[in-house]
Amino acid sequence: MATSPRTEAQLERLARLRDAVRSSSSYHDAVSRLAAIGEDWERARKVYRRLGLRIRDDLNSGPPYETRPNSQPPVEIIHDEPPETLPSLQIPVYCEEPATPAPAPAIGWTVEEPVERILFVPDTHVPFHDPVAWGVMMQSAKRLKPHRVVVLGDFLDFFQCSDHEKDPRRCTSVKSDVEEAKALLGQLAGLGAEHLHFIEGNHEKRLRRYLMTRAPALLESMDLPAMLGLREAGWTWTPYHEHLRIGELHVTHDTGHAGATAAQRSSADFMGSVVLGHTHRIGVHAFGNAHGQRFLSAMFGWLGSVPDADYLPLVKRMKDWSHGFGIGYRIGDRVELRAVPIVDRAAVVDGAVVRVAG
Ligand SMILES: [Fe+2]
Ligand SMILES: [Fe+2]
Repeated sequence: MATSPRTEAQLERLARLRDAVRSSSSYHDAVSRLAAIGEDWERARKVYRRLGLRIRDDLNSGPPYETRPNSQPPVEIIHDEPPETLPSLQIPVYCEEPATPAPAPAIGWTVEEPVERILFVPDTHVPFHDPVAWGVMMQSAKRLKPHRVVVLGDFLDFFQCSDHEKDPRRCTSVKSDVEEAKALLGQLAGLGAEHLHFIEGNHEKRLRRYLMTRAPALLESMDLPAMLGLREAGWTWTPYHEHLRIGELHVTHDTGHAGATAAQRSSADFMGSVVLGHTHRIGVHAFGNAHGQRFLSAMFGWLGSVPDADYLPLVKRMKDWSHGFGIGYRIGDRVELRAVPIVDRAAVVDGAVVRVAG
């Protein structure tokens, strides 16, 4: 079988290597003999290895010997001649050129990648909102410069339309409440966001329910989105118990769950990330599954007046509810969520304290 010129050169080289190794009396002698023919011990070992042989160098006191891989130190010297048609000899078996290391991948940091900023405005309960909490949220929002604003429902309280017993001293008119809510919505629209979303809560639904049961003839003429002028101002409207999608995020007022784990249970219902209103609690919870998916469930507190929400015990309002709001950062379909508590008339946004004096 004809061999290629390169294979013949390899065989000749092997023969020179083996002559040097076999005629040596010690490891050091072998190193010297290899050096004399322009080779060295490590190169010789590589050539041997390609042939399925080894030369052992652990017997400094004796001559080097050839052996097969994995054999134990010898008892006899093996002088197998390498088969000339070894497949490994049909291809280059040794490279004289130093290997060129692959260029290390460049590590770069991008800190200015554009991201969509989202402001989440939780339950405000106009006209029983807390002016300080609202002020801190608005000042923070001016700093944030959101691309998108989402009102999470219960923006109005509609105390007059509730089935609870009412303190007549607190009763304001629907008309004045709507006017006040329009003014606050105007502040939100004035932030310059490209997208504005209003999600209906159970308190907004109070008006519809009141009309349906007590004045159905007025139902059509007292459409809340129209009363608030939402469509003209560019707001979208999501009815109560329906949800808004922002990428992979589901946003709704409530899903029928309450309490500290309401958002987590809602995420389980959606099998995805969720932002809830309604609970007046604050927090972001992250969880995942064995497939490597990661979800967030968030509640962003509220902006109402604690003394005015007297339909629940004061201790519960103080213990469980938190003033605050939410921020989202949208990267493609994924939305990272941050809860921003308002404590002592202040919030921390973008590394700065935003405080309302007074
Ligand atoms: Fe609610
Ligand atoms: Fe609420």
